[in-house]
Amino acid sequence: MTVQIITIDGPSGSGKGTLAAKLAEHYQFHLLDSGALYRLLGLSLQQRDLLEYLDTKMPNCVEIASNLDIQFITTGNGIQVLLDCEDVSQTIRTERVGEFASKVAAIPELRAALVERQYAFAQAPGLVADGRDMATTIFPNAQAKIYLTASAESRAQRRVKQLQGMGLDVKMNDILANIIARDKRDMERTVAPLKPAIDAYIIDSSMLNIDEVFKLMTTYVDQQLAK
Ligand code: DC
Repeated sequence: MTVQIITIDGPSGSGKGTLAAKLAEHYQFHLLDSGALYRLLGLSLQQRDLLEYLDTKMPNCVEIASNLDIQFITTGNGIQVLLDCEDVSQTIRTERVGEFASKVAAIPELRAALVERQYAFAQAPGLVADGRDMATTIFPNAQAKIYLTASAESRAQRRVKQLQGMGLDVKMNDILANIIARDKRDMERTVAPLKPAIDAYIIDSSMLNIDEVFKLMTTYVDQQLAK
């Protein structure tokens, strides 16, 4: 049986995570949050004091990446993420861990170490894969490829709201600067840079709410899956 794959790529704060979860629920597909894998790896390397020594300790870091002890557990309130049996669901969403993730994500050896783990999520009846290189690198044969973007300002506003909702004290200017720096790093890296696949359906969500984006996505995905 063919596993149907929907990819959603795009920059941080474009709403990918929320929309990917909604699509997975709508189509009853599995969900891959590939950004969480990079966040978990960044956190794990930082906890082992290896993040500053990526150059000299690469074999050690690759070994850790290949053997990350992680679990995604679906609960009534979303997905709980465990690293070495510890609940890090909130920790991995912080800006600090986002920075760790962006660093490790620029390293080809570490990206390669996470590839098989991503393939393993592709199980019947289908998968919604959320990330930066889902359509260009990991699942180039996906039936539906979406690239979701939004202006840096609107993404920063959403992120501030999200982090404040988690009780964190954050400043708009800091978040905007982080988003711009992370976009630059994600788009300019030589390995699997953030960019739309040639055949991707591009949606700019700056002026759209979640329901409007969801409608555009399901209309497109329904057409693609029916082919
Ligand atoms: O989507 P996110 O903010 O959780 O991603 C965290 C970091 O991981 C981000 O800087 C880009 C990187 N990433 C990546 O390089 N490739 C992916 N498929 C997913 C995320």
